[in-house]
Amino acid sequence: MMTRRNVLSVFGIYVIIAIAHANGNSQNIEGKTEIIHEWVTLDYDLPPPMKRSLIDQKLLIPENLALTEMDVIRGRIFTTIGRTSKPGIPASLNTVIKRNGKSFSKPFPSLRLNRAGDCNSIQSASGIKIDPNTNYLWVLDEGQVNNIRFCRRKLVIFCIRTRKEVFRHIFPDSVLSESSMLFDLTLDRDQELTRYAYVVDSIASKLIVVDVVTNTSWLFSHPSMKGEVSAGNITVNRETIFSRGGINGISTTSDFKFVYYFSVASFKTWQIPTSILRNPSADSITFDENVRMIGIRQHHAVSLTSGTRSFFFPALEINDILKWDRKQDIHIDGSEEEVNLRSLQMLSPTTALNFADGMHIDNGFLYFVTNKFHKVRLGTLDFSGDDGPNFTIGKIFVGEESYLLGTHPKSCQ
Ligand SMILES: *[C@@H]1O[C@H](CO)[C@@H](O)[C@H](O)[C@H]1NC(C)=O
Ligand SMILES: *[C@@H]1O[C@H](CO)[C@@H](O)[C@H](O)[C@H]1NC(C)=O
Ligand SMILES: *[C@@H]1O[C@H](CO)[C@@H](O)[C@H](O)[C@H]1NC(C)=O
Repeated sequence: MMTRRNVLSVFGIYVIIAIAHANGNSQNIEGKTEIIHEWVTLDYDLPPPMKRSLIDQKLLIPENLALTEMDVIRGRIFTTIGRTSKPGIPASLNTVIKRNGKSFSKPFPSLRLNRAGDCNSIQSASGIKIDPNTNYLWVLDEGQVNNIRFCRRKLVIFCIRTRKEVFRHIFPDSVLSESSMLFDLTLDRDQELTRYAYVVDSIASKLIVVDVVTNTSWLFSHPSMKGEVSAGNITVNRETIFSRGGINGISTTSDFKFVYYFSVASFKTWQIPTSILRNPSADSITFDENVRMIGIRQHHAVSLTSGTRSFFFPALEINDILKWDRKQDIHIDGSEEEVNLRSLQMLSPTTALNFADGMHIDNGFLYFVTNKFHKVRLGTLDFSGDDGPNFTIGKIFVGEESYLLGTHPKSCQ
């Protein structure tokens, strides 16, 4: 059985990558990484008296704050601070702002709407995705705070401009299991409407589909969504962690015909047509008949995102981010039904990498979060700052737009 702690250690691996980053033999695409935000310790944008009072009451424990997911819309950054298993975290869903050169997490939609134990509020945001067509923020909420399950898991959509909730789906028992942990999602548009969310249940090794038009969800399971024991040792900078992590990296193509995904403890990358996922009466047999392995990677990765032509994912063992030029390989192989993972290029970010699983494209740039999650977990983070930042948000130019962006974006009012 995979426990929460194992899962965290899976993501913790990212942390170890830092330091040894060789630029020598890799092909550098666009070069420079820009660090937009950095922290030794995360800090909330709250009035100082309130912050002091929260700290005094142990309702804010700064050393428990760790950045995990992120998304971005026209440069505006949203992040999640995981709080499923730790106390002292007043808000899980935040935007990031800068004042006098210092970066702060500002609770979204508000501090109040992040209140633990109130099921109308966000409990622990695990995955977030912004639809650039509507400026809707899609939030996956694990429903649990400091190991207490207060609420059912839900998918909530907010209009960013008004901060109002516009939709929620409560995941029914029929799609969940005891071990479920909903970590990430990708969105799918059908005739200009962003209608489906494909949610990864990494520990129960399932893919859950949410249809926001019918407010229903259903699931698929397949051996490709499980971690493989033979691929469970992940070695980064001479430290090895064993993972059994299942499906986690997932992203949709910009024509919305296919979804690509992989498991944490696996080198295989898979493709499934959205026509199968969108069909609530398709079963796991239909899934099996239509899923296709498109290639074996050489390195482990947790996250996956896509632009208008390429997919992007980290390569843990070599401290890099890879770009797969999908369009080029479709050209070589003749069709997407036959495409193989061939044209890989290293992005070679110029800064040290400590990846969490947040990476997303906005306006030509690939944005990503770095953290030191294993140190967070071990409680050894240095908060003096002598060792430099422990969390950063960076961006690197890739010249593509988000896979989701259509031709007629119209912001929600
Ligand atoms: C979807 O269904 C849930 C109950 O399963 C309900 O709480 C929620 O309000 C519904 N959402 C919409 C938009 O109707
Ligand atoms: C993974 O590492 C463990 C401990 O070092 C070792 O016993 C095991 O054989 C390794 N598994 C694989 C598939 O390499
Ligand atoms: C905080 O980050 C630095 C790198 O900037 C790292 O060397 C240090 O180990 C971290 N703190 C601790 C005590 O883990």
